[in-house]
Amino acid sequence: MVKFDAYFVFTLFSVTLLLHGRISTALRTTTDESEEWGYVEVRPKAHMFWWLYRSPYRVEDPNKPWPIILWLQGGPGASGVGIGNFQEIGPLDADLNPRNSTWLRVADLLFVDNPVGTGFSYVEEVDLLVKTDEAAATDLTALLINIFNRDISLRKSPLYIVAESYGGKYAVTLGLSALEAIEAGQLKLKLGGVAIGDSWISPVDFVFSWGPLLKDVSRLDDSALRRAKRLAEKIHQQIADGQYFDATNTWSNLEDEISRSSNNVDFYNFLLDNGMDPVSSTAVVLSEKLEFRRYSRYLNSLRPTPDNGDGLDLHSFMNGPMRKKLKIIPNNITWGGQSSLVFNALQGDFMKPRIDEVDVLLAKGIQVTVYNGQLDVICATRGAEAWVQKLKWEGLRTFLSSGRTPLYCGAEDGTKGFLRSYKNLQFYWVLGAGHFVPVSQPCLALSMAANITQSPAHLAY
Ligand SMILES: *[C@@H]1O[C@H](CO)[C@@H](O)[C@H](O)[C@H]1NC(C)=O
Ligand SMILES: *[C@@H]1O[C@H](CO)[C@@H](O)[C@H](O)[C@H]1NC(C)=O
Ligand SMILES: *[C@@H]1O[C@H](CO)[C@@H](O)[C@H](O)[C@H]1NC(C)=O
Repeated sequence: MVKFDAYFVFTLFSVTLLLHGRISTALRTTTDESEEWGYVEVRPKAHMFWWLYRSPYRVEDPNKPWPIILWLQGGPGASGVGIGNFQEIGPLDADLNPRNSTWLRVADLLFVDNPVGTGFSYVEEVDLLVKTDEAAATDLTALLINIFNRDISLRKSPLYIVAESYGGKYAVTLGLSALEAIEAGQLKLKLGGVAIGDSWISPVDFVFSWGPLLKDVSRLDDSALRRAKRLAEKIHQQIADGQYFDATNTWSNLEDEISRSSNNVDFYNFLLDNGMDPVSSTAVVLSEKLEFRRYSRYLNSLRPTPDNGDGLDLHSFMNGPMRKKLKIIPNNITWGGQSSLVFNALQGDFMKPRIDEVDVLLAKGIQVTVYNGQLDVICATRGAEAWVQKLKWEGLRTFLSSGRTPLYCGAEDGTKGFLRSYKNLQFYWVLGAGHFVPVSQPCLALSMAANITQSPAHLAY
């Protein structure tokens, strides 16, 4: 066990005048300044929690700046500080053992509980939760202004936004909002690129992909395929008519239909049944109410493993040892306490596509990476390919007709993936991974993170 309490000594409370008036900041750092975390009041009574790790593997290279990755979790309502950090790419796992494949090997890492209401972030009034991806992006931009504008050393690092699942929708809206703030001189950083992993960029393309994919891998029969297609068509129509709430309801019905017809396939890995995957979703942790549980199947929180090491699931871990280490979490705030409210508030935006935002990023010359796990259902590769084909980007035709490079990793045998790259668009096909790519393919994911960020790190593999 890591001894937290000996770790850090000083606290700094500052009130800074920024963008929209007063934004108060509660900040803490470890003595060696390798970790820093805090709250930023991104709007009055809306508090966002963030946690920055500076890499011990940092390499100084005059031609390649050391990058920083902002990791955005999905859900909506899943915690980057908890899940992304301790279950996917952070320096320690939830047993507090070092993670060999931590992305700190190639970059500094910034985790955030986004949007407000997620993880340790909170709102003092429920109507302050965000209702759109754009509103989430505005809050995240306020956070970045707070963190980067006061830290010159951090600003030397280009920022790469890397997202998973619903996080992809925040990532592309944040990319645009951050660029605007940079152009207006309000935000001082360099945006290096945006990477969207198994991301919910075009809901309609994903719901149409589920039936055919699951039929092809023997999880559905023909009549189930027809029922799935009818529901997907209904969703398509509802989206076309701008009935986004209804589309969210039908999406939920389609998931129920598929669960029934497939004898409970795991939506995050079609080789498994729901509940078998050590990295599949858990609704129960985040909400006890039935109407929430129905939606929260999408929440990409990883399964807490009750018998891991000290016997703590992620919920108890974050609300136990972690809040004790962090010291600044208010007494009446529980990690995950407002998470299901976050999903509910975003119901009207949940089924909106964000393909146009990807197009604008591409047109502006920003590096865009799409990566997808082969075994994912919810954000299936077939759906990701379908929305990529809808891009209006001038390089698309050449991109689509370009060959793919096979990828290998370390000393492990066998093809681990494929990469297609043209100009500022990259697409990674990751084999043997479901929804949670860094968990299933840690070696390849790390090497991909190094390439995306053009890290000067010297990876052993
Ligand atoms: C927590 O308590 C403080 C003061 O007691 C109150 O102002 C705040 O609204 C509470 N926050 C939540 C989320 O209940
Ligand atoms: C990363 O780049 C190196 C060097 O160009 C290449 O050999 C490797 O296959 C790439 N790996 C991935 C995962 O992109
Ligand atoms: C840890 O990573 C190194 C390469 O950096 C690799 O050689 C080693 O096998 C990894 N260990 C485990 C337990 O994965």
